[in-house]
Amino acid sequence: MKLPRNFFKPLAIGAPAPLREAPLKLERMIHFVPPHVEKVRAKVPELIHQVDVVLGNLEDAIPADAKEAARRGFIAMAKANDFGATGLWTRINALNSPWVLDDITDIVGAVGHKLDVIMLPKVEGEWDIHYLDQLLAQLEAKHGVKKPILIHAILETAEGVNNVAAIATASPRMHGISLGPADLAASRAMKTTRVGGGHPDYKVLADAAAGAPAAPRAAYQQDLWHYTIAKMVDACAAAGIKAFYGPFGDFADSAGCEAQFRNSFLMGCVGAWTLHPSQVAIAKRVFSPDQAEVAFAQKIIAAMPDGSGAAMIDGKMQDDATWKQAKVLVDLARLVAAKDPEMAARYGL
Ligand code: GLV
Ligand code: MG
Repeated sequence: MKLPRNFFKPLAIGAPAPLREAPLKLERMIHFVPPHVEKVRAKVPELIHQVDVVLGNLEDAIPADAKEAARRGFIAMAKANDFGATGLWTRINALNSPWVLDDITDIVGAVGHKLDVIMLPKVEGEWDIHYLDQLLAQLEAKHGVKKPILIHAILETAEGVNNVAAIATASPRMHGISLGPADLAASRAMKTTRVGGGHPDYKVLADAAAGAPAAPRAAYQQDLWHYTIAKMVDACAAAGIKAFYGPFGDFADSAGCEAQFRNSFLMGCVGAWTLHPSQVAIAKRVFSPDQAEVAFAQKIIAAMPDGSGAAMIDGKMQDDATWKQAKVLVDLARLVAAKDPEMAARYGL
């Protein structure tokens, strides 16, 4: 076991000290762009104002013969833009692929000082995080990167799900974890052909009516992802990092997308991936705190200025614990308001 006092030491001489607290950032949607497509890169300056995170995707969905162009395109788009408060992330290729070493070394060398987070696909266990952690420290030291680049793992293999708690606590670089339902379905041999969302055949059938066994029976579709999201949220919350729902592949089904995003939000996720522009508004709607909840949270904070004691508000008991929940909501609302004038007006902030 690594000694606790060494956990927060840099892994290379000259690398920046690991962060002790995760940066407070608004990350309602991680918006995927294919960086080898010039037309898409040209729209990045506009996109920066519309989304919370811009992610240059180098992994799945990028054809093998475009991998190098995607890497070069990502570096070009990172250099060409000022991202301000919007996050700049990349999803690199998997650790067993022929492209990943150049993904990491070229990108950190060229734009490591601008990169917030590396998303690592197909993480199987804490050993994958340790490898990237050490390599990033060496590269940060070599290139004089001052701010540690964080790691975000995709949970998309059965082995990864088994090891999720160890993955979440593998390094102080861990930013969070996203569910990857498409690869996870394949890894588990689930009998689906979808990218996230439910399945009409995964259902519970109501009991047959007494004396009418052949009468039609109500069927209730269940959430295929409930178990995995719950397991991921517990691992992330216990480690003090963030949980995200991943992709929803049916771009025409906005109601299905919203329902999937909302289930994950209610269970503790803070954001989701957006693969299509139409999903950005859905993620904003779902992952921004509710206006009425924010107004109530402001009342709690006003009634208990130092955060201790007890108060009754609208007939509901408040104490130190609800004050902390209120603070989470108001802090999140402030982050949203700083980015989004329309939401600022709604929250009255
Ligand atoms: C995402 O990468 C997924 O496999 O769902
Ligand atoms: Mg995947």
